[in-house]
Amino acid sequence: MFEEAQYFAPVSERADGTLQVKLGADHPGFADADYRARRDELATLAARWTPGEPCPQASYTDAEHDVWAQVSAALVPLHEQYAATEYLHGKESLQLPTDRIPQLEEVSARLAPLTGFGYRPAAGLVPLRDFYGALAERRFFSTQYVRHHSVPLYTPEPDVIHEVIGHGNTLANPRFTALYELAGQASRRVESTEALEFISRVFWFTLEFGVLFERGELRAYGAGILSSPGETEEFRDVTIRPLDLVAMGTADYDITAYQDVLYAAESFSHVEDVVGGFWSSCTDESIAAVTHSM
Ligand code: TRP
Ligand code: FE
Repeated sequence: MFEEAQYFAPVSERADGTLQVKLGADHPGFADADYRARRDELATLAARWTPGEPCPQASYTDAEHDVWAQVSAALVPLHEQYAATEYLHGKESLQLPTDRIPQLEEVSARLAPLTGFGYRPAAGLVPLRDFYGALAERRFFSTQYVRHHSVPLYTPEPDVIHEVIGHGNTLANPRFTALYELAGQASRRVESTEALEFISRVFWFTLEFGVLFERGELRAYGAGILSSPGETEEFRDVTIRPLDLVAMGTADYDITAYQDVLYAAESFSHVEDVVGGFWSSCTDESIAAVTHSM
């Protein structure tokens, strides 16, 4: 079953209205009181946001900016070598800062003239219907905290580096945003949880963890690979299967480790045809027809 809920730490509200983020004992920031206070502060900030308002400004510390700078620098040569051309086009247009964490508002302002996409703040887990529904309006829910400084190369929790470097560079390219929007529209068309989960798994294996061939070489276009220097280094060594909607839509995956199976498209147009085509037309009935005949 869909496990999204587990990679976001649960958030609860204190009597004074502030939020508390419950990091597990195995989280690298568990014993770091300063980090935990920051997480609570940023979650509270997001929770106080009202739809329609700009994203709240998060004032980051030098140490936090430093984690961003380290990951950005590590990703420069890795993206050049292993990111798909369409991702690199988006990166070229967006020109994210490399020395400091940009504010979500600032990134939204840069995206607006490129694709019309913009960020919305998320305190923690956003229910699937809300997350995908927002994509249909070109809005992307994003966390604002940064991964713990002890684990810059990979984090099992989506952080601002993943949202802004991983997704932002794709949200700057209209060929990608057409796909995000179609996923959003598909989510609004279906009623059953089953169909929504199928759509979401296809999203996972494409816009999050998609790879494709370019001139015979495997390159990544998924935001979840390309925000992690560690996984970007290693994705070519895992089991690579051909792009297959039913296989992706029904596969289970582990959200806490590098993916061990990825689905490769023949080209970016192949993703547009197969995955874009699926999201454009899928319904509860069409999805039930393929899952029930298995
Ligand atoms: N592993 C990614 C990184 O290190 C971030 C991430 C965590 C993620 N959970 C995810 C990406 C779920 C996609 C989906 O940057
Ligand atoms: Fe993501």
